[in-house]
Amino acid sequence: MLQIADLHVRYATAEAVRGVDLTATPGRVTLVLGANGAGKTSTLRAAAGLVPAHRGTVVLDGNDVTGHPPHAVVRAGMVLVPEGRRVFAPLTVEENLVLGGYTVPKARSRELMERVFALFPILRERRRGPAGLLSGGEQQMLAFGRALMAQPRVVLLDEPSMGLAPAMVASVLGAVREMADSGLAVLLVEQNAEAGLAVADEVVAMARGEVVFRGAADLARSHASVLRVFLGEAALANKL
Ligand SMILES: Nc1ncnc2c1ncn2[C@@H]1O[C@H](COP(=O)(O)OP(=O)(O)OP(=O)(O)O)[C@@H](O)[C@H]1O
Ligand SMILES: [Mg+2]
Repeated sequence: MLQIADLHVRYATAEAVRGVDLTATPGRVTLVLGANGAGKTSTLRAAAGLVPAHRGTVVLDGNDVTGHPPHAVVRAGMVLVPEGRRVFAPLTVEENLVLGGYTVPKARSRELMERVFALFPILRERRRGPAGLLSGGEQQMLAFGRALMAQPRVVLLDEPSMGLAPAMVASVLGAVREMADSGLAVLLVEQNAEAGLAVADEVVAMARGEVVFRGAADLARSHASVLRVFLGEAALANKL
């Protein structure tokens, strides 16, 4: 379980995150919505140790990992899948997965790869081919699979549907749902509110570095107008 409390992130020119509280629990997808620049990526990057938390705490299953370097956060059980699915194009699918499992013993890594293949059968089919030849959606699955190779209990996903064709968006978000159903705690940042809400349990909306709304996803689904008010002009950008 991930507990982010009173998180503040400051850059030289601005305070991007101002007192954010967020929780991700096993088996559940917590969706984070918000306009461009709302502070979503900064929140995930601070949780993963990629940018310093100016204030606040990041607690993973009771262990305070605030300010720990990224590799220590990975070892503690939390992995960030960044925006833009950066797979290693010339390497094979299998080689990409092996790289993701660098923190676990080799025998365990083989077991984990089997689990990734069970979750994403297309990766098994393509395992000996270069990752660069996968479609955008398949590359996103590989980015998920690579994250799962580190044996996380919490995954942070930054806009996995970005730039994908509509049919691919549904299958990538279906994969997000399956990751949660397998017991992971998932924190999902999405600009596509409709697609994100379809797989989410909880929803949090951010604006200007703060949380402005939180509630159950089914409530947000049936009362989209409420969420629209909180998202303001971001509602349109979020396709709500
Ligand atoms: N490395 C940085 N240095 C300075 N300012 C930054 C840096 N990264 C982000 N910012 C600023 O912090 C604010 C929050 O950015 P962030 O990337 O967290 O937003 P976001 O919600 O992820 O937006 P998007 O939907 O566009 O991805 C923005 O005003 C952005 O310009
Ligand atoms: Mg972002």
